[in-house]
Amino acid sequence: MVHSSGRMSFHDLLPPQQSMLEEVRAGLDKPQKELSPKFFYDAHGCELFDAICSLPEYYPTRAELSIMRKHAAPMARMLGRDCTLIEIGCGNSAKTRALLKELEPRVFVAVDIAQAQLEASCNALADSFPHMRVVAVRADFARDFDLPTVELGTGRRTLYFPGSTIGNFTPSEARDFLQRWAPLLGAGGGALIGVDLEKDPAVLNAAYNDAQGITAEFNLNVLRNINRELNADFDLAAFRHVARYCAAEGRIEMHLESLKAQRVRLAGHELEFRAGETIHTENSYKYEIAKFQALAQAAGFESRANWTDDDHLFSVHYFTLP
Ligand code: AVI
Repeated sequence: MVHSSGRMSFHDLLPPQQSMLEEVRAGLDKPQKELSPKFFYDAHGCELFDAICSLPEYYPTRAELSIMRKHAAPMARMLGRDCTLIEIGCGNSAKTRALLKELEPRVFVAVDIAQAQLEASCNALADSFPHMRVVAVRADFARDFDLPTVELGTGRRTLYFPGSTIGNFTPSEARDFLQRWAPLLGAGGGALIGVDLEKDPAVLNAAYNDAQGITAEFNLNVLRNINRELNADFDLAAFRHVARYCAAEGRIEMHLESLKAQRVRLAGHELEFRAGETIHTENSYKYEIAKFQALAQAAGFESRANWTDDDHLFSVHYFTLP
């Protein structure tokens, strides 16, 4: 589906519901049950994620915003005016605004799975930056999809992937993801990527186990989304949120733990849970700067610059393609 109004166009490239059912069933049939974190982001999940971003314990959003506010001018000089900026995962648009004010790209493309949030933030950006063409693309960015290249203009292309969402991929998925983007960005194209840094596990564990229980609600919301979209009967009170830092992998793992032996119906199929069995719902990898540079290099990108906040909690990397 495509629709356009003035300087904004919207493209829906999301696969049909059938593919959600197949993916959810395949994940829940594995010996270690798992669900993709993309299923967190229904409308309520987006609201919960916004609330997470303002939590006192969840430092990444504030730390990244401080980097963008402080260094947007040199970043913009490196990216070059009149470029085409392609943002993946259009969460908190304050970071994007800090960059857009300096960069003034000709074309801004936003790719996200959550339609309401995508349209709202693109409309707001189109109002604030009248010189800029805005292209909203609803897509599952973890999979292959074809961006409408005619919409991308002729400017130099830069991928903007903020929020450490790249940390929700495994390192090999992250490398494959960057490799898949390289042909579209082209020789000389760029990538500006926000990456959470390794740090004291106590700080990490607190960020994913906040005192108000918002992260727990966000995690459990995946079951609510599946109940509604796939006609399942998960009892949210029979699962609990678990998040812990796993030092060996350098990642936070989030799980939902079954509080008892139980059966759940999902689209005419019955799933069994043992007491204490978990569904693995998210990985959130943390990288030292050199480790992430090596990952991007393995995908064909050359490191040009990186910035961190004053407390060295978060990093923003800039790469280009030879
Ligand atoms: C979107 N993503 C980078 C967040 C993260 O920190 O991995 C999602 C999140 N999960 C729990 N809290 C926030």
